[in-house]
Amino acid sequence: MNNRNFNYDIMPEIKERWSSRAFSDKKIKTDDLMAVLEAASFAPSCFNEQPWRFVIGDTKQSKEKLCGLLYEGNQKWACNAPVLILVLSYKYFSSNSKDNYWHMFDTGTSWGYLSLEAWRRGILAHAMGGFSRKRTREELNISEDYDIVTIIAVGYPGDKTKLPEDLQDREHPAVRKPLSSLILDIDESGKLK
Ligand SMILES: Cc1cc2nc3c(=O)[nH]c(=O)nc-3n(C[C@H](O)[C@H](O)[C@H](O)COP(=O)(O)O)c2cc1C
Repeated sequence: MNNRNFNYDIMPEIKERWSSRAFSDKKIKTDDLMAVLEAASFAPSCFNEQPWRFVIGDTKQSKEKLCGLLYEGNQKWACNAPVLILVLSYKYFSSNSKDNYWHMFDTGTSWGYLSLEAWRRGILAHAMGGFSRKRTREELNISEDYDIVTIIAVGYPGDKTKLPEDLQDREHPAVRKPLSSLILDIDESGKLK
């Protein structure tokens, strides 16, 4: 089922990418993993601060650690992926230690780059907010200088019939709000309509 409609000719990876939960346990080649992280690292950022940080769970021990932080609904499928990546975001400008208001915006951009390069390589990347940020900070001893952003499941597509039935029903690209509902106009008095 694909109910997505496109009116314009945009990058195929943007049109095709979606967040599947059906992962194979096939190991990811180191070069592929490093390439998607390199893509993420080339996102633009305010003052070129590059606030994104990636904690890679690609060994039995490190993956189990990150898997254990996920909420149960996500553990059911995400721990099948061969790699979990915890994304952190540095909150300050390193040049002057002032607050960097844009750090989450920039780290979000880097996740977007990561997901598209992954898709281009036939790799699924599924971001999750469903995990305990409190336990993540405590158990991994993460400094308050970083916000805890997301855990991303990364791996090759697998067999959707191995997922619990309720999740099988959700194995399709999600639709989007109409573009016209996302564009806000300024009226004659200079205020938002
Ligand atoms: C920051 C963020 C957090 C998300 N958290 C979860 C999650 O905890 N569990 C889950 O199954 N999907 C999660 N998703 C996936 C979204 O539900 C999905 O991206 C959205 O429905 C749009 O679908 P698409 O990615 O297939 O286009 C998350 C996505 C993002 C970007």
